[in-house]
Amino acid sequence: MIHNNISVLDNGHLAFADADVVELAKKYGTPLYLIDENKIRENCRKYKSTVEKYFGSESLPLYASKALCYKDIYRIINSEGLGIDVVSGGELYTALSVGFPAEKVYFHGNNKTEFEITYALDNNIGCFVVDNFDELYFLNDEAAKRGVVQNILLRLSPGIDPHTHRAVVTGNVDSKFGLPIETGQAFEFVSAALNCKNINLEGIHCHIGSQIFDKYPFTDAAKNMLDFALLVKNELGYSFKKINLGGGIGVRYVESDSKSDIDEIMCEIKNELDELVSERGLDKPIFLFEMGRYIAANAGMTLYTVGSVKEIKGYKKYVCIDGGMCDNPRFALYQSKYTFYNASNANSEPEELGTIAGRCCESGDVLSDEIKLQNFSRGDILAVAVTGAYNYAMSSNYNRVPKPAMVSISNGNERLVVKRQTYEDIIANEI
Ligand code: LLP
Repeated sequence: MIHNNISVLDNGHLAFADADVVELAKKYGTPLYLIDENKIRENCRKYKSTVEKYFGSESLPLYASKALCYKDIYRIINSEGLGIDVVSGGELYTALSVGFPAEKVYFHGNNKTEFEITYALDNNIGCFVVDNFDELYFLNDEAAKRGVVQNILLRLSPGIDPHTHRAVVTGNVDSKFGLPIETGQAFEFVSAALNCKNINLEGIHCHIGSQIFDKYPFTDAAKNMLDFALLVKNELGYSFKKINLGGGIGVRYVESDSKSDIDEIMCEIKNELDELVSERGLDKPIFLFEMGRYIAANAGMTLYTVGSVKEIKGYKKYVCIDGGMCDNPRFALYQSKYTFYNASNANSEPEELGTIAGRCCESGDVLSDEIKLQNFSRGDILAVAVTGAYNYAMSSNYNRVPKPAMVSISNGNERLVVKRQTYEDIIANEI
């Protein structure tokens, strides 16, 4: 099995977090998102202890909550002692609604609205990751009106290509995120921030991309960030207290993906960083990280009911399900690979090539294209593994399909954490 929270029961059904998923599908209906709460906690603990081991207890490990955002996850993240990154007023509102401590919130986004900025200021969030000059000056003015000095980091692009899918690369020079070091704009950005009276510049931030399996993109980015820190120290006599290197550690979706070990990768990053810092004679900054996928991905599974199995003679076999790009747009967007199981008959061997077709009205709505699958027939439950990150978070009501429910499983007990949308919910805001 692709992760250790998936197994097969004596009755031949698939189990997730030790729960019979066919029974869950019967009880709650499909499509259904499942969350293994113990796995989220295990991932948080591993991440937190690794960050503490290599970067000290001053480094607050952050969860990038865009990966999976719903009320209960902020309770879990808070109880595990992590901070969060939010990218919108909506994520911030969700976190605050369950009492997430505002001082542990980092607010990202390349075009925060004025409403979002003032909303976050009024709620005393810990840190803004400022993307551009317009935001910097607006934030400074609003902080002045409130008589506060706001902690910020500046979002920079270090000019690194991590060789992952182009849609999730963010640290390249011409990125829409932040300002680049290479063009000299990052330096002007720092000078400007230092001149803002109601801004406390704590440091700099970069995020190079997502689903990265080796250390080099991180250490290459860190090298450019530290060269920049040295330039700022020499030219402006200012030392950054914090350098946030973002998220991006890769997760195993299919057997051919490597098993990424956060301890190994963080250890290598730390060793390189120590060397880079001492070579440059810099005061050691606090290094921060913000992992999303690593925390949530393997804590999720999605269940669907197979409606029809259709063979286009001489061409393709389609296994048609009651969800698709509306609850998981990742194949349509990035051709992302997944591992699929026939949860009703989990011991059967993969037999022939098939395509998992979603229910939406377009041909691009598939979850895989021609991969070796177990045999499926109408009524079987199809389980997709590793769907905790960027699935529910990216779901839509395309074709007016209601969003699935989400059930969280913890120590053998399951509980509904997100209700299934109804048709009334879908038209609720329409006049
Ligand atoms: N920090 C920043 C500033 C980010 O933009 C992101 C992700 C993260 C942290 C967390 O990265 P992670 O650890 O999750 O790789 N929808 C795409 C992924 C987009 C990632 C966006 N930014 C997908 O489904 O693959």
